[in-house]
Amino acid sequence: MSNGLEDVVAAETILSDVDGLAGRLIIRGQPLDALTGYASYEQVLALLWDGFFADLPEDLTTPLANARAAVYRVVEREQSLLAELPVYDGVRAVMARLPDDTDLETALLLTAAPAVALPAAIRLQAGKRPRAPQLGLGHAADMLSMLGDVAADPAPAAALDSYLVTVVDHGLNASTFAARVVASTLAGLNSSALAALGALKGPRHGGALGPVLDMLDAIGTADKAAAWIENELANGRRLMGFGHRIYRVRDPRADVLKAALERLTRSGAVDTTRVELAQQVEAVALAALKRHKPDRVLATNVEFYPALLLETLGFPRSAFTAIFAASRIGGWIAHAREEAANGRLIRPKSLYVGPVPRVAA
Ligand code: COA
Repeated sequence: MSNGLEDVVAAETILSDVDGLAGRLIIRGQPLDALTGYASYEQVLALLWDGFFADLPEDLTTPLANARAAVYRVVEREQSLLAELPVYDGVRAVMARLPDDTDLETALLLTAAPAVALPAAIRLQAGKRPRAPQLGLGHAADMLSMLGDVAADPAPAAALDSYLVTVVDHGLNASTFAARVVASTLAGLNSSALAALGALKGPRHGGALGPVLDMLDAIGTADKAAAWIENELANGRRLMGFGHRIYRVRDPRADVLKAALERLTRSGAVDTTRVELAQQVEAVALAALKRHKPDRVLATNVEFYPALLLETLGFPRSAFTAIFAASRIGGWIAHAREEAANGRLIRPKSLYVGPVPRVAA
């Protein structure tokens, strides 16, 4: 038995490769740093979905914009749900209203769902009316336009696009595995997406983004970082934004997102004191983790800098995991299609360690 399925190879994929020793991520033949900042989310979707849908257009910008408009009609009907539920649960409820087929139209609607439901939920919970999507905008720019009261500037839209591209796919992580398990039963894409959404929610997966900011808030100023961190570790708590099951070096996504945050800083849109605090906390945390677990490399992971990036873009921390889902949905769909084409039901075994029935004398 392998606890946590560590080192178990459970799928062949052409979609992404995570090399934890070299700190390298390949998305369908492209190194991550050739995509982030260079390709749009729609272009990366087309790359990932190539071959999995018979009628896939080269440019998904307009089809995805049309899907956002269709999802907005669902959002308008579900306003009370989005106003009441936590953001993540509201997004999941809207998604559950969409079809459960395996065609391109379903894939586009599912991809549009978090991007549209999430800004609507944030606005409704702040007592504002949702804003409709705009056909002429790219996916990231439209998300910001639906969130804010005015159209987004190019720099924030580019930063959000960088985030969406960077976290779109990452090997056989927990949520992607959940999506593939469901797809192997030949259920529809929505069933896979909903299973994956459930897996992403936990703090050991996509739920660490908000707690990274909670940690910065609790620390307050750089001079308090060392004592606060030592106290956390001494009490057996984990530092959010550090450590990874696969990477034994720094997560390459942390670097490209740190660079995206720096680009945003140069555009003047960022509170630099907050970024400086984060950099100082990162340095103290890395040194403390090295002392705490000398045999294990615990480096900065993908959650640390995006937390600051998303905060700067105006998203409340309660929405962070849903934004992660708004990106990863593209990867889940590709993996679900790949797994369904494989044709073999995923059905591992368990080791029974419970009581055995008494044999009558
Ligand atoms: N802070 C403190 N200690 C940590 C740690 C962290 N962030 N991450 C791992 N450790 C410790 C573990 O407690 C474990 O100690 P133990 O052997 O005494 O129990 C040891 O390091 C080895 O852990 P590892 O096997 O590498 O962790 P994992 O593969 O089970 O978990 C994570 C990986 C991501 C779940 C884990 O690093 C974590 O919880 N990080 C914080 C949450 C986070 O940032 N999540 C986002 C992931 S992208």
